Amino acid sequence: MTARGLDYLEVQGLTVDFDGFKAVDGVDLTLLQGELHFLIGPNGAGKTTLVDAITGLVPGTGLVRYRHRDLLSMRSHRIVRLGVGRTFQTATVFEELTVAQNLDIAGGVHRRAWQLALARRSMPEYVERALETVGLTALRDRPAGVLAHGQKQWLEIGMLLVQDARVMLLDEPVAGMSAEERQETGELLRRIGSERTIVVIEHDMEFVRSFADKVTVMHAGKVLTVGSVAEIQADERVQEVYLGRTGDAVLADPEAVAAEAAGEVV
Ligand SMILES: Nc1ncnc2c1ncn2[C@@H]1O[C@H](COP(=O)(O)OP(=O)(O)OP(=O)(O)O)[C@@H](O)[C@H]1O
Ligand SMILES: [Mg+2]
Repeated sequence: MTARGLDYLEVQGLTVDFDGFKAVDGVDLTLLQGELHFLIGPNGAGKTTLVDAITGLVPGTGLVRYRHRDLLSMRSHRIVRLGVGRTFQTATVFEELTVAQNLDIAGGVHRRAWQLALARRSMPEYVERALETVGLTALRDRPAGVLAHGQKQWLEIGMLLVQDARVMLLDEPVAGMSAEERQETGELLRRIGSERTIVVIEHDMEFVRSFADKVTVMHAGKVLTVGSVAEIQADERVQEVYLGRTGDAVLADPEAVAAEAAGEVV
């Protein structure tokens, strides 16, 4: 906690070395509570590996400070208990269990094994609250396997809520969602984000434009720049990274891109 009572997570000089290849290379980042922080960058930039290192899934060097602890020296289950949670590019729910049971199990991270009862008749209050927040109350008793892709991502966010994750690192949560689902997801993140520190990895610039307070651009394991959406869009280096390396004009004005694709001169 800072003097103002705001939570934050600080990354300093974080490096992940895979046999000499630095997938993350000296990254500095400050993530503040209440800010929807987006992490963008071309494929292979190191976004997922950065989140993996913060959450203890791959070893890293440097410093990741949260609540006076260095996460790099902690095992992943302890990091979860400290309140740092993440989602994966592909949803990792238990498909054969119901939506509510998935939330109940996720909440078990703060309970002892004997308190975990799959056969429990009524769910804890925080499970009901999480269902409400992520909009899955009507589907609470359906097997998670029948959920649409977008709904699985909401369930995963719900699982972070019942774990009382104060820091949420979301790896491409809106990939494959319809425009409407994206909008709902953005609004959900806004609702839960004021009292949390949320980082969203995303490629879709329209989504980033709509919801980002702050954007960090990664390229080749390094932070290229940090700024508002307007600032990073105006940054020539950012445009070069996207246009030059991948031919993916994600940062350009969508209408101009469409016109270009249609063969018009822009
Ligand atoms: N376990 C690993 N061993 C070796 N190299 C790895 C490993 N995991 C990732 N990499 C490499 O590290 C680089 C960064 O990968 P990462 O998955 O973090 O990128 P990303 O920015 O998340 O990309 P995407 O947008 O495609 O998800 C890539 O070159 C990848 O091939
Ligand atoms: Mg990734």
